Amino acid sequence: MFFARFSAVLLLASFSVAVPSGSLDDQWVYLNKTVDGRLHTAVPFARPCFQQSTLSGSYDEAACLSVETNYLNATVRSGTFATYMATQSETCQKTDAQCTLDWQNITDPAASAAPRTCSQGSISPYYASFANFVSSLLLIFSNQIDVKCAKDVQAAFAFSEKTGVHVVIKNTGHDYKGRSSSPNSLGLWSHNLKSMSYIRQFRPQGCPSHTTFSAATIGAGVQHTELFEFAEAQGVTLPGGACSSVGVTGGYLQGGGHSWLSNIYGLAVDRVLEFEVVTPTGQHLFANACQNSDLFFALRGGGGGTFGFVLSATTKALPKVSYTSVEVTYASDNTTLPKFVSFLISNAVQWSLDGWSGQIRPGSKLVLTAVNTTEAEATAYMSSLRDLATEINGTFSVATTPSYLAFHKTFVIPDALNELDGIPQTIGSRLISADTFADHPDELLSSLLNIVSASAVSFIFANAPYSVSQDASLGPASVTPAWRTSVWHVIAGAGWTFDTPPEVQSLLYAGITASIDPLRAITPSSGAYQNEADLHEPDFSTAYWGENYARLEQIKRKYDPNHLLDCWNCVGWKGANDTLFSCYL
Ligand SMILES: Cc1cc2nc3c(=O)[nH]c(=O)nc-3n(C[C@H](O)[C@H](O)[C@H](O)COP(=O)(O)OP(=O)(O)OC[C@H]3O[C@@H](n4cnc5c(N)ncnc54)[C@H](O)[C@@H]3O)c2cc1C
Ligand SMILES: *[C@@H]1O[C@H](CO)[C@@H](O)[C@H](O)[C@H]1NC(C)=O
Ligand SMILES: *[C@@H]1O[C@H](CO)[C@@H](O)[C@H](O)[C@H]1NC(C)=O
Ligand SMILES: *[C@@H]1O[C@H](CO)[C@@H](O)[C@H](O)[C@H]1NC(C)=O
Ligand SMILES: *[C@@H]1O[C@H](CO)[C@@H](O)[C@H](O)[C@H]1NC(C)=O
Ligand SMILES: *[C@@H]1O[C@H](CO)[C@@H](O)[C@H](O)[C@H]1NC(C)=O
Ligand SMILES: *[C@@H]1O[C@H](CO)[C@@H](O)[C@H](O)[C@H]1NC(C)=O
Ligand SMILES: *[C@@H]1O[C@H](CO)[C@@H](O)[C@H](O)[C@H]1NC(C)=O
Repeated sequence: MFFARFSAVLLLASFSVAVPSGSLDDQWVYLNKTVDGRLHTAVPFARPCFQQSTLSGSYDEAACLSVETNYLNATVRSGTFATYMATQSETCQKTDAQCTLDWQNITDPAASAAPRTCSQGSISPYYASFANFVSSLLLIFSNQIDVKCAKDVQAAFAFSEKTGVHVVIKNTGHDYKGRSSSPNSLGLWSHNLKSMSYIRQFRPQGCPSHTTFSAATIGAGVQHTELFEFAEAQGVTLPGGACSSVGVTGGYLQGGGHSWLSNIYGLAVDRVLEFEVVTPTGQHLFANACQNSDLFFALRGGGGGTFGFVLSATTKALPKVSYTSVEVTYASDNTTLPKFVSFLISNAVQWSLDGWSGQIRPGSKLVLTAVNTTEAEATAYMSSLRDLATEINGTFSVATTPSYLAFHKTFVIPDALNELDGIPQTIGSRLISADTFADHPDELLSSLLNIVSASAVSFIFANAPYSVSQDASLGPASVTPAWRTSVWHVIAGAGWTFDTPPEVQSLLYAGITASIDPLRAITPSSGAYQNEADLHEPDFSTAYWGENYARLEQIKRKYDPNHLLDCWNCVGWKGANDTLFSCYL
């Protein structure tokens, strides 16, 4: 009875449900028992604000008030299963079935009053929440992690295999391409896997005894603020992404993982030493350079939600250092903007070679950071940038921050656009290879100016790991090799209102694709960063993985032969016609 609604959905979607023992309801009940009652019903976040709904529950003024207060709060949203950063992932875009509020005016009744109706959209109706059963302290000594948790994940894959119900892994729900939600699926939620441990002499399993690293083992649910605070407390550096609430070892790491300082520290995949993972074939494995190295390669850039459920990842812990950052702010107009961007194009490659890394908002500011440089040296090195700042009536300043956490708090967090949570939005991007700056400076300038004027948001991440050498002992990573020959990762973004109709949303997607096309034209052998890319990236497998794609497909076939884990434009993608993607535009 309890699962009646879900069963009905399944029948309508005519899944071929093969249940060897007991009905589908029995299977759900069995799964819930296996995971010790941690199978939950996922109710859309804004359900209490709607009078009318296809779902159970009812309007509740007090509960609605709390939803309104927290609707755009990244901490609350990432700690709630049924919410996604880009809210179209909660909705069924194709049918416009949704349960979202007017993000521009949260109390606007036009979003939630009848005839508008709250629907399940793309949110998994049921989800299993995984948790650690062993304390972090024990993990340090055992290196044999949570067997119970692994068993729970194995049970979820077995359930999927038996019933034909798709599984989808959700961590923070920050994915731009909806890869952590899917209608009628079973959600596997990693959020509560919060263990962290620092290990002075970590030896990856199966590696020779002299192979040890200063490292940290990070549970699948840990988010970046938690990581930076932990590193600070341990007196080490664990670099990570710009958005405090993005997960550390989920889609971020498995897709590549850049930071403002990735031209100093490399990508997240360049520092990871080992993954603990449960594969859809039911194996509980430790993958590193010495054992299961094919899976290790795949998880270092092949993409999240594709090869297995990562329970934790162990990553290098680096010495704590201080950072010297140069900041320019200015008010752009149609004289200063081209001047500023041309200057960037002329200097980008040299800055990158000399180890500077950071983020640029072409229309308003730049932050570039280096290590092993005094403020006086930085000021001297950047003297022409300071002259330009004066010329465009901007500000120029240099500051030292004593740790990664301090750097993050001083420069990254105040950059509020890094947290646009609860808003329907999309982006497109391109990795700009070093040769482009000399070969096509004029086209690069005009493309960037178009992007700045046409997009709601635009970023230049001047942080491709161009000056960073990789640790050869780890073997190759599977991200596109274009990351290694590029200097910039350029992003254009668009958003829309709660009531934008699907056909207008389609036009916005097409507009993003078109705005990146001129960059694609001048960087034909480059690629794009899969985690921050166009939903309709042309030739996505080449763009995201280049020459690594063929090997990734083989590895996918080995560890997920029955496609229990599939996602949009992921390795092994069978096309948009899969019922998993019935809500995509
Ligand atoms: C505001 C904002 C800022 C960002 N800043 C950066 C940045 O600085 N650098 C950067 O590189 N990227 C950045 N990103 C992009 C980010 O890398 C992606 O959004 C990424 O998909 C987030 O991963 P997640 O696990 O937190 O999110 P989710 O949406 O929960 O998951 C993303 C994908 O990973 C899979 N996945 C999650 N957990 C696991 C697991 N345990 N095992 C296997 N698969 C899993 C999911 O199935 C899904 O396919 C940013 C995104 C946002 C929204
Ligand atoms: C799973 O079991 C627990 C404990 O028995 C129960 O509280 C919960 O409602 C069940 N979940 C579902 C989705 O039925
Ligand atoms: C978001 O919610 C958290 C947790 O309740 C709270 O600590 C924080 O202050 C909130 N942030 C904002 C900007 O309101
Ligand atoms: C928000 O919605 C309320 C209720 O409809 C309305 O009174 C108010 O003017 C709106 N505010 C803005 C800024 O649009
Ligand atoms: C500069 O921008 C303004 C509006 O911001 C516009 O009216 C003007 O035509 C632009 N000038 C040139 C030369 O493009
Ligand atoms: C900074 O200096 C330290 C100590 O000399 C060195 O180990 C490190 O590699 C340097 N970092 C960079 C990015 O040059
Ligand atoms: C320079 O900026 C200041 C304030 O930041 C402003 O008052 C002034 O008009 C600007 N001058 C020019 C020439 O734009
Ligand atoms: C997907 O479906 C569309 C419309 O139903 C059809 O035209 C197309 O051929 C299908 N593509 C594949 C690869 O099956």
